[in-house]
Amino acid sequence: MKEKLLEIKAKALSLLSDDNCDVEDIRIKYLGKKGELTAVLRGMGQLTPEERPVIGQLANEVRADIEKAITEKKANAEKAMLEKKLRSEKIDVTMPASALKAGRLHPLTKVQRELEDIFIGLGFSIAEGPEVEYDYYNFQALNIPENHPARDTQDTFYITNNILLRSQTSPVQVRTMEVQKPPIRIISPGRVYRSDAVDATHSPLFHQLEGLVVDKGVTMGDLKGILELFAQRMFGENTKIRFRPHHFPFTEPSAEVDVSCFACGGKGCRVCKGEGWIEILGAGMVHPNVLRGCDIDPDVYSGFAFGMGIERIVMTKYNIDDMRLLYENDTRFLSQF
Ligand code: DAH
Repeated sequence: MKEKLLEIKAKALSLLSDDNCDVEDIRIKYLGKKGELTAVLRGMGQLTPEERPVIGQLANEVRADIEKAITEKKANAEKAMLEKKLRSEKIDVTMPASALKAGRLHPLTKVQRELEDIFIGLGFSIAEGPEVEYDYYNFQALNIPENHPARDTQDTFYITNNILLRSQTSPVQVRTMEVQKPPIRIISPGRVYRSDAVDATHSPLFHQLEGLVVDKGVTMGDLKGILELFAQRMFGENTKIRFRPHHFPFTEPSAEVDVSCFACGGKGCRVCKGEGWIEILGAGMVHPNVLRGCDIDPDVYSGFAFGMGIERIVMTKYNIDDMRLLYENDTRFLSQF
């Protein structure tokens, strides 16, 4: 039994002296519950009373020696790992500093500028209006009197009874027509507000781009022509547009306008949800009441207007499925554009 114990010790220590050994394996093999040393100790019952304490003491020494070797081995391994880590993380202060990362435009800004470029190319100029607006411009002058049901869909934030955060860019139409007589050809991009809860497709703050053309003899054919040119420049030259009848209080007739899907060309795909068409804006012929309210004679002049959500264009163009990504300022998202 004594020889057996010494043999176990010699074998265990020799295995542990190998730099690539698996320490845990060795521990289980020799010191574990089913290990070799334990097996020897189980046989102690067969020894004579004289032998038992001698062998017992030797067994304890063998266990202690093996344990000590294991502890040392583990400590050495940890030390080596730490040294390796420190070596790999060493900073060479004589190396040139890493370059500053250049910023980039937010996708909303990018698309807004693209839209502006297209319409400026079509002869439009940019008009601006306040975000804190009178009820008069946001609603009344747009043929939406108090208690009109169209106000329901554009509930917004009120500063006082007649001052609010504009719920659309359409008030800029009225402000423009009040100070400028036809011919008028403007777009107006900017922030708008609605008291909507945040979700994947809603935000209390978003962006629109309004368009307005007023002159003698302006027809719906002109509206269609301009929107077709716009759609082709924005989404590709083979893009088609489609008008669907709709109602807006400030235009008559009114339409919702779809573009053929730029991803599949109209066959139906994931981007257009199988429709082949993507709704992008509302439009129509400026209502005579709106012209009259701005002192423009509807018997002499006519005009068209359109309004689109910039977020919707960004999300369609880049296939983004959650609007919140546009406002969270996560550079992992933003650096993709
Ligand atoms: N202001 C409308 C909205 O927020 C969009 C719109 C529709 C604007 C038709 C227009 C228009 O100028 O003619 O839903």
